[in-house]
Amino acid sequence: MKLAEVRKLLGFKVPPLDARARRLARCHEIEDLRRVARRRIPGPVFDYVDGGADEELALEANRRAFHRWAFCPDSLVDVSGCDPATSLLGDDIPLPLVLAPTGYTRMMHTDGELAVGRAAARAGLPYGLSTVASTSIEQLATTGHDRLWFQLYVWKDRGMTRDLIERAADAGYRVLEVSVDAHVSGNRLRDVRNGLTIPPSLNLTSLLKIGAHPGYWTRMLRSPALEFANAPPSVGSGVTIENMTSQFDPSVAWAQLDEVRSIWPGRLLVKGPLNPQDARRAVEAGAEGVHLSNHGGRQLDRTLPPIEVCAEVRAAVGEEATVVLDSGIRHGADLAVAIALGADAGAIGRAYLYGLMAAGEPGVDRAIELISAQFLRTMQLLGVESVLALRERGAALLRDLTALSGT
Ligand SMILES: Cc1cc2nc3c(=O)[nH]c(=O)nc-3n(C[C@H](O)[C@H](O)[C@H](O)COP(=O)(O)O)c2cc1C
Repeated sequence: MKLAEVRKLLGFKVPPLDARARRLARCHEIEDLRRVARRRIPGPVFDYVDGGADEELALEANRRAFHRWAFCPDSLVDVSGCDPATSLLGDDIPLPLVLAPTGYTRMMHTDGELAVGRAAARAGLPYGLSTVASTSIEQLATTGHDRLWFQLYVWKDRGMTRDLIERAADAGYRVLEVSVDAHVSGNRLRDVRNGLTIPPSLNLTSLLKIGAHPGYWTRMLRSPALEFANAPPSVGSGVTIENMTSQFDPSVAWAQLDEVRSIWPGRLLVKGPLNPQDARRAVEAGAEGVHLSNHGGRQLDRTLPPIEVCAEVRAAVGEEATVVLDSGIRHGADLAVAIALGADAGAIGRAYLYGLMAAGEPGVDRAIELISAQFLRTMQLLGVESVLALRERGAALLRDLTALSGT
């Protein structure tokens, strides 16, 4: 037998020559990307992404809440033409998935938001730029991605808030998301312990952990300094990366949502409400819908996992309103649970950041590819042929394991 024949028989594949591609080829789920990211990135930076607020109870509960749901599939359904495409806020997308806004993304990898934006554009998925992004509204628009969203924090300086909204509109952003869960910063103890706070107060252990990753530092030192990229050209307001979060307005209330609505010409979502009454009020105030989120467990600890309130919120806002849900999605099956419980789409934060930290832009591609393949397979094995069918038959396809076990 020739060597080529033995190779064929054993199904042996020559590993890719490129080290990054080899690394990614070994990642078969988001947890694999997380493991690689943990190895490759200085501990304090990894913790900034991976961690949650206070006792991290909300962070853990977000994952547990997805695992509470078990599938009860339909058999003998022709799923050969199964189609995961859907439409969200007027745009056709190949998968009910959004890449959620995450601040300072250039700290995770120097290509930062541009890498995420390009990967999202390739996949045809919406991507939300954070107010506290390390890439500006205009820079990200140069990717040519035509499904960009902008996430807004309301500032004490209302002129600056207005300026951000107008710039996002001028740059062609499709959707504005107003975050309502971060008017005060969450207390992320991993960051406090690592000294990765604003302003930084790194301790010796953190410095040693950081020093152990020279590759990361070489890349960082060669690229432009991390900055609050969305500061208006005339930074008269004195906002810097150090004092930024103290500029968020804790007095922000429903009246500000009306103001934003009157300025923003496009589609509007409210990001971060958790109770059904607030969700309904947001829609009554003129928002197209809500982005259910507990900020991935990074703000108020002990908050309910959004997936727990998804069905109630859908009932409260009605079928016409848009419901996007995040916090804890790490698998295509989680996405299927969210749709089955009434969401129009799910969003991911950490899942793509793990990919970015593991391998830069191709790592984000890989994260999307994994969730996409998992979602399609879940739909087919569930016996649903479309996202609409998953929404409509969702309740019949799920069982609550806690109710079954009587706990
Ligand atoms: C590192 C990091 C930074 C984030 N920054 C922002 C932000 O600037 N604005 C915002 O609205 N949400 C922010 N979020 C929350 C995400 O938009 C999203 O709600 C959350 O990541 C979803 O949970 P998941 O990480 O479990 O997918 C951030 C999340 C992470 C992990």
